[in-house]
Amino acid sequence: LVAGVDSSTQSTKVVVCDATTGEMVRSGRAPHPDGTAVHPDRWWEAFTVATADGLLDDVAAIAVGGQQHGMCALDDQGDVVRDALLWNDTRSAQAARDLTDELGGPQEWVRRTGSALVPSFTVTKVRWLAEHEPDNAARVHDVVLPHDWLTAQILKQGNGFERYTTDRGDASGTGYFSSSTDSYLPDLQELALGRVFGVPAVLRPSEIAGRTEGGMVVGPGTGDNAGAALGLGLRHGDVVVSLGTSGAVFADADQPVADPNGLIASFASASGGHLPLMATLNAARVLTAAAKLLGTDLAGLDRLALAAEPGAGGLTLLPYLDGERSPNLPDATGTLGGLTRSNATPENLARAAVEGMLANLVAGVSDVRRLGLPVERVVLIGGAARSEAVRAVAPGLFGVPVAIPEPGEYVGLGAARQAAWVLGGSAAPPEWEVRYEATLDPPADDVGASVLDRYAGLLATVHPS
Ligand code: XUL
Repeated sequence: LVAGVDSSTQSTKVVVCDATTGEMVRSGRAPHPDGTAVHPDRWWEAFTVATADGLLDDVAAIAVGGQQHGMCALDDQGDVVRDALLWNDTRSAQAARDLTDELGGPQEWVRRTGSALVPSFTVTKVRWLAEHEPDNAARVHDVVLPHDWLTAQILKQGNGFERYTTDRGDASGTGYFSSSTDSYLPDLQELALGRVFGVPAVLRPSEIAGRTEGGMVVGPGTGDNAGAALGLGLRHGDVVVSLGTSGAVFADADQPVADPNGLIASFASASGGHLPLMATLNAARVLTAAAKLLGTDLAGLDRLALAAEPGAGGLTLLPYLDGERSPNLPDATGTLGGLTRSNATPENLARAAVEGMLANLVAGVSDVRRLGLPVERVVLIGGAARSEAVRAVAPGLFGVPVAIPEPGEYVGLGAARQAAWVLGGSAAPPEWEVRYEATLDPPADDVGASVLDRYAGLLATVHPS
C-alpha cells in the first residue's frame, strides 16, 4: 500500500491506495484553519487526526501534495518564525509591484524564473517580511513550502530527518527558482530579504526524501496542481480546468514556456516535465456568492442558470470578487455589465455568474494554445465541475470536448502515485486507471464565441492593456 497526502488550504486529506492498481482502499481527512496566514503546526495536527486509527498501517511509502507558494519561515533551530503566509494572502501586493520594478518589469521575471510575479509567490512574502517584521526577518534561516514542511515533519517523528527537501514543481512557484535551468536564483533571494537564505534541496521526481523510523519510504512530494496532474495521468493535448476555491488551468509540456502576457506561469511538473499553469483567485466561490445574492443554494442557481438563454440576455459578470491574479488585478472587484430593464432577471444573473466564472478560465486555455501547446480536450475537475449549469455552458465556451473524471481526491492520488513510483524505482510512474463519468461535445452554434467577445470587451474597460 502507498499513501498520498493533500494538505490543502482548508483541510488535510490522506488516501491509501494499492501500489499496483491505484485503487483507493481507505482515506482520512481532518479540517484545519482556512485562513491566509496559518501556523504550520495546524497542518501537522490535521495530518495526525486524518491518519489516526491505523490509517497508515501496512503503508510502504508516502508522499505529500500541498498548497503551493506558502512561506514557512524557519529559524536556525528549525522553529517556525511566524504564521505561514499562504498563496491567498494579498498583503504582499505592494512587495510584488516593487520587486517587479526593481528587476526591470514583469518580462524580466518571466526571463529569469519563467513567471511574472503575483502576490501569491513566496518571494513577495519574503520581501513583505523584510519590510514589515524586521525582527522576524532577521531570524529567518530557511524558507520552505507547506509540502516541504509536512514532509520534514513526517521524517522528524523518528530520526529519519536529514535535511529539508522539495521538488521542481513546488520550487518553481517560489519566484527564486528557474524552471528552465532547475536551479535556485540566490540574487533574487537577496533582492527580497537582503541576504541569501536556506532553501530545501530539490529532489528528482522519484527520489527518496527519507525513511521514517518504521521504515516507510517518503517521497519528494509536490505542489497541489502538479499532484493533481499526476493523479489524473495528464496526457499531452489535455488541458485541466480546476474549479475549486481557486481556479487553475494547466497542461503537460515537454519544454518550459515563456508567456509574454505573463498570464501563464512556467511551473515544472511532478513527472520530470513542465506544467504551464494559470491560477485564478475566483472560481467556485463566484457561484456560491451568486446563489447567496439570489437567495438560493447551488442547486437553485443551477436551475435558474439552465432556464436562461445562452448569453444571459447580454448580461456579463466579470467575476473578480476576491481581486484577481490572472489577469494581475489584486485590487479588482466584480463588474456586472450590460444590465437593462428587460434582461434583469434572476435567471440571467445566474447564467452570467456561470458564464463569467468560466470565461476567465477560457482566457487561460486560449493562452495555452497561443503558446503552441495542443488543446484537444478540457478535463474539468473541482467542486464546481459537479454543477449541471457549468456542464451545460463549458463545452460551448471552451470549444473542445469537455471530459469530467469521476469525483476523486486527485491531489492525494497523485501524491500516492508518486509514492508508488519512488517505491518501485521504475523509470516512469505506475499506470493507474482514471475513470471518466462524461465527455461533453461543444455545440455546433457559435454562441460561445459571441459570449467570449462580450467578455473581452468588458475586460478591456477594466484592464486596458
Ligand atoms: C497555484 C496556486 C493555487 C494553490 C492552491 O499557483 O496558487 O492553485 O496551489 O492550493
